[in-house]
Amino acid sequence: MDITKVGVLGCGLMGSGIAQVTATAGFDVTVLEVEQKFLDKGFAGIEKSLAKFAEKGALKETLQVIRTRLHGTTKMHDLADCDLIIEAVIENADEKKKMYAALDGIVKKNAIFASNTSSISITELLTSTKRPERFIGLHFFNPVPLMKLVEVVRTIATAGDVYDTAYEFTKKLDKVPVRTSDKTGFIVNRLLVPYLLDAIRAYEEGVGSIDDIDNAMKLGCGYPMGPFTLLDFVGLDTTYYITHVMYDEFRERRFASPPLLKRMVMAGWYGRKSGKGFYDYSDPANPKPNRL
Ligand code: 3HC
Repeated sequence: MDITKVGVLGCGLMGSGIAQVTATAGFDVTVLEVEQKFLDKGFAGIEKSLAKFAEKGALKETLQVIRTRLHGTTKMHDLADCDLIIEAVIENADEKKKMYAALDGIVKKNAIFASNTSSISITELLTSTKRPERFIGLHFFNPVPLMKLVEVVRTIATAGDVYDTAYEFTKKLDKVPVRTSDKTGFIVNRLLVPYLLDAIRAYEEGVGSIDDIDNAMKLGCGYPMGPFTLLDFVGLDTTYYITHVMYDEFRERRFASPPLLKRMVMAGWYGRKSGKGFYDYSDPANPKPNRL
């Protein structure tokens, strides 16, 4: 099956990034949002990111040409003739299922449905459609334009040719796909989440300060960001949500939220996006570790 037209559900951080790399790679992209203002915000982010690539001479085409392939809409019917739908809406199984169920009757029957979820079961999501064999996970990483990885997630119902088509599609985006199956957290979060939670536990136990733990992992292991910088970058609310899904699946302490994470989320400290997390971002160029 040839993929030429791609629909992206959601124009937040992940959806806009996916739309950007897909349009840059030569595909026609339509992004669906509930309100025009969310499209405007997402498209402004795409412009900023594309401008950075253009400055470095890293684009094969002009910005004008790439823009002609990027469309925004608030109407589901505009996605009817897409070959692939990639959903990147809020991490809420019911919300996602509602959207898939509505689109299932609108989008052409042989289109592939994909979810960018990081933790919700792909198998649970596919039950909202009548195309279980044409349903897959495509998990991108933040920031999508820079991060090379895509986890391509197979369920027990996924057809082999659908999996292969999706796998090859990610290569055309200049990404590196890895094969994985529908086990909560897939590969990356299975390993990353316990590490991040352990960093919080180490801090709670007085092993080191926030910036010392960050520096230790950055400089001692060559990680691009220390665990607290990464937690703030991913979002503490997002991480907290993931811990629930993973703990619910595996019932292991390593996936359970430490008390501090829960309290920070309750207090509205979500990390970089809320201006406060393990660091304070009053001066975004110079974050200061908080005393917790
Ligand atoms: N678009 C285009 N260019 C961008 C950009 C964007 N969105 N963001 C940054 N850049 C550019 C910067 O302008 C800079 O360009 P320059 O070298 O010409 O100045 C360059 O990229 C490097 O950026 P920075 O100097 O700001 O910072 P870094 O060198 O630290 O790189 C990073 C940034 C790639 C984000 C790096 O810190 C990194 O790899 N961090 C780890 C990110 C990570 O682990 N992500 C995965 C999170 S987990 C996840 O997403 C899964 C989910 O399910 C939870």
